Amino acid sequence: MVFRTVSRLVVQVILTAASVCAALLSIPVAAETGGEAWLRYAALAPESAKKYDNLPTQYVLLGDSPVLKSAQQELVQGLTQMLGRTLLPAREPPTSDAIVLGKLGDLRALSAELTSPQELAPDGYWLKSARVRGHDCLVITASTDRGALYGVFALLSKIARGESVAALDEVQQPYAPIRWVNQWDNFDGSIERGYGGASIFFAEGKVRQDLTRAGQYARLLASIGINGCAINNVNANPHVLDESFIAQVSRIADAFRPWGVRLALSADLSSPKALGDLNTFDPLDPRVAEWWRKKVKAIYRQIPDFGGVVVKADSEGRSGPSAYGRTHADAANVIARALKPHGGVVFYRAFVYNHHLDWRDLKNDRAKAAYDNFHPLDGAFDDNAIVQIKNGPIDFQVREPASPLFAGLRRTNEAVELQITQEYTGQQRQLCFLVPMWKEVLDFDMRVDDTAAPVKDLVSGHFFHRPAGGFVGVANVGMDANWLGSPLAMANLYGFGRLAWNPNLSAETIIDEWTRLTFGNDPLAVRTIGALQLDSWHIYESYTGPLGAGTLTNILGNHYDPGPETSEENGWGQWHRADHAGIGMDRTLATGTGFTGQYPPEVQKLYESLASCPDELLLFFHHVLYIYKLHSGKSVIQHIYDSHYDGAERTQEFVARWKTLAGRVDSERYADILSRFQYQAAQAVVWRDAICGWIYRMSGIADEKKRLPATVP
Ligand code: GCU
Repeated sequence: MVFRTVSRLVVQVILTAASVCAALLSIPVAAETGGEAWLRYAALAPESAKKYDNLPTQYVLLGDSPVLKSAQQELVQGLTQMLGRTLLPAREPPTSDAIVLGKLGDLRALSAELTSPQELAPDGYWLKSARVRGHDCLVITASTDRGALYGVFALLSKIARGESVAALDEVQQPYAPIRWVNQWDNFDGSIERGYGGASIFFAEGKVRQDLTRAGQYARLLASIGINGCAINNVNANPHVLDESFIAQVSRIADAFRPWGVRLALSADLSSPKALGDLNTFDPLDPRVAEWWRKKVKAIYRQIPDFGGVVVKADSEGRSGPSAYGRTHADAANVIARALKPHGGVVFYRAFVYNHHLDWRDLKNDRAKAAYDNFHPLDGAFDDNAIVQIKNGPIDFQVREPASPLFAGLRRTNEAVELQITQEYTGQQRQLCFLVPMWKEVLDFDMRVDDTAAPVKDLVSGHFFHRPAGGFVGVANVGMDANWLGSPLAMANLYGFGRLAWNPNLSAETIIDEWTRLTFGNDPLAVRTIGALQLDSWHIYESYTGPLGAGTLTNILGNHYDPGPETSEENGWGQWHRADHAGIGMDRTLATGTGFTGQYPPEVQKLYESLASCPDELLLFFHHVLYIYKLHSGKSVIQHIYDSHYDGAERTQEFVARWKTLAGRVDSERYADILSRFQYQAAQAVVWRDAICGWIYRMSGIADEKKRLPATVP
């Protein structure tokens, strides 16, 4: 025993000495799995740590809620790891310089300086250097415990990135109250469209015994301001609402609670019937309303801070209100009314469409479905119902216009649904940083009533003065040590949280923050990784779906490999309409499906006309001849060839660019990422040859640069 303790001590000393040497030399020594994500709190090199010499060495905590305790522990852990010093507890009021942590209401009595420059919204925080009882203090405060926790994470992030924390006076407020993630986890431990390993919540039909990862996940979420998580697949197993299952699920809520993350569940609308309690699930039947009331009450008995329910109905084979001739508002409201007395919300997904559309009918268009289904119901949803709308009108393709439904709901709460898990965008095996794409959607101006109406202001509720609204990201993290299957893919989870908090942040700022937190402050690493990430979406698009044709992937299989033939001649409606003469979906009012008519007039005009439709969405809105000339002056067909060849070449460059970081990134992540880039470079060639070969066969028009392999028929 003594021997073991001594040898552990020796190992400890060696490790500490090694990391001190490494810090001095700035060489990353230890291999890292990526498990710490952006919360590594790596030891700062001594000259960087110096900047924080004046930070108090004591802290005063006001309050003892679980969330405040997490905040305090995080503060101590972060400062210890980064600055190598232990922060000691002290009692209030401070008798020397201290970091003071607590709710504003509890702090005001301590100092006259603590009057916030602006009203603090729930979850907003204030970092303030202030004199408190004659001492120089750093105050981290908020109107809620959760806000104080967010303040701690913000302070630690600044230190990790080498920012000054002297003379702080910074208020940060969230853009919207809803900042949620959805997980599509199944009870058997699999995850629908998950690429980072098995479920962290479920295994073998039950909630996992060991929920350590669930707690760690909640911590990661809290660090980027996410305040809710729906834990199970939107294609919901009705048994999630079994009494015995809720008891199990409540353990996950317990793991989330210290981090201020509210748990939500996806529920099947047919549950009252599917669980054998009633012979109907008609939302207007009083027995059904009573069933939901009782069920929700039972949930709150076990999970007092339960967040709410996500519903996918009448979509891709799910049951829905159409079974009884009822509307989606009827379906949403029956659950919303059950949740209302407890403070819960229902997220009703607008992803409703007929997947048995007749492809022969050129007027049919899946893109029209969400607006057609939900716009007529505007104003019919209760105040605690939120219509959850995918960013584009199809389904998370590599390029889509913003969904017109964002502008089509004036008297209904809405949230945008973004997909963090890269279902159609490389499944984490290929690099595709999605923040630039999300920003294009969030910044897109819908010109409602001839007024600037960016999507971010529609979904947050600012524009139409709605009480609830915001951002939902489909995350699908798993048991893989690095959460999403690839360390670089975690930038999408981080970026989602940062945009949900503040959609006005630039992609450049977000990636700079993320890279510094994830890989350290080495200038070459920060520049190189940031640039790789920022380039990646356009490159991925260039060899998988240029000009808005959609991702020409195998839509009937894995949504990953090239498979343009699978899009056509079936009812799924992901059509590109390629034939011998041309390509693209005519969605115009004049000659096509009329989809453009769902947008406000100025946007409709933009997309309706070939002259103004941007090249990158041309084939989404128009069917054109292969020889049609783009604004760039190139023909469509030559653009398709060129973009595939360029894209494939640029993925080769990824490999070379990454190699410049040898020795500057820890060995484990360096090797992992290198092998991913090598794989991606090969995969881009597979895509290039498949799509170029296919388009040549369709069109009979050869690449003018004569790059097609001789084997193409
Ligand atoms: C996509 C995805 C499905 C998912 C669906 C949804 O179609 O491929 O797996 O269930 O979206 O968002 O409901």
